[in-house]
Amino acid sequence: MLLRTVARRSSRWITALGLLVVTLAACSTDQYPQTTLLPRGDFAKIADDLLDTTVRWALLVFVLVEGVLLYAVFRFRGKPGDAEPHQTHGNTTVEVIWTVIPALILAAIAVPTVRAIFQTNATPGKDALTIEVVGHQWWWEFRYPEFNITTANEMHVPVGRMVSLRMGSNDVIHSFWVPQFAAKRDVFANRETRMWFTAQAEGDYPGQCAEFCGIQHGRMAHRIKAQKPEEFQAWVAHMQTLGPKPPGAAAPAGDQQYALGEKLFTGKGCIACHSFAAVNAPKGMVGPNLANIGSRSYLAAGTLKNTDENLARWIRDPQGIKKGVLMPNLGVTEAEAQALVAYLRAQK
Ligand code: CUA
Repeated sequence: MLLRTVARRSSRWITALGLLVVTLAACSTDQYPQTTLLPRGDFAKIADDLLDTTVRWALLVFVLVEGVLLYAVFRFRGKPGDAEPHQTHGNTTVEVIWTVIPALILAAIAVPTVRAIFQTNATPGKDALTIEVVGHQWWWEFRYPEFNITTANEMHVPVGRMVSLRMGSNDVIHSFWVPQFAAKRDVFANRETRMWFTAQAEGDYPGQCAEFCGIQHGRMAHRIKAQKPEEFQAWVAHMQTLGPKPPGAAAPAGDQQYALGEKLFTGKGCIACHSFAAVNAPKGMVGPNLANIGSRSYLAAGTLKNTDENLARWIRDPQGIKKGVLMPNLGVTEAEAQALVAYLRAQK
């Protein structure tokens, strides 16, 4: 009877655990999870190593303390008819021991902690790749002064070269978080904050604004595309060819949709907030730079996969998809949205 109850209880626990695992697994549909526990860069590795060290000490303390406690509970438990045990008030030796041991452990943890603080706050060398990060409600602008190019929401970096981030905000406080490469750091309107990392593995890594910044804070994601150095250089060279094309010049011959989309982009007023200039991009634009919008993986700062269908939905009803976003609903018809999609898809 007892055994059966125990078995039933443990099978319930196993079911609950199984459900939890399935639920958590659903959180990571990406090949690259948004986690600090799988570092792919030196900065993140320093932080992760420190966490490991601290957890190891904590585990040791937990096992020893709980072990002694459980031993005492079972070894000295009261039995019916026992006399009152001997009453103790204070034990200097034991108190000294349990004060000195934690002090030593804290000192042992302080050494790697202080070292990590200095390491992660070090100034990057001159050969680092500087990227300016600007937080906006609710998207990220990335400017590469070395190459004079600008993009939005998807940061490309070369593997193996240190990246020096110089960060600010266009409006409220945001926090730029690069889970697998570095930490999170707040960005402010009137103060520059800095962070650095060196990507050690190629991949397409998700990141997320980590400071509440308004109702769409949760949809202020970004991606880090870590590429082989030669692929990164090719991307830069390609970006440098992108820019505002003379009206009609870039239209594939006879592409009516493209030509109509180009007209609508001006006619509907999109042009007031978005720039197609990757090179010499204007600063302080209201909307994300669209120089390579046709080839990005996501739309609206990680809100939607960049498919034609989603792009059309977004153009028609940004307020329905991301309420409060600065892009207004412009009364675009389905046919007009299709033309704008054809035009935008060609910007890549
Ligand atoms: Cu930006 Cu939260």
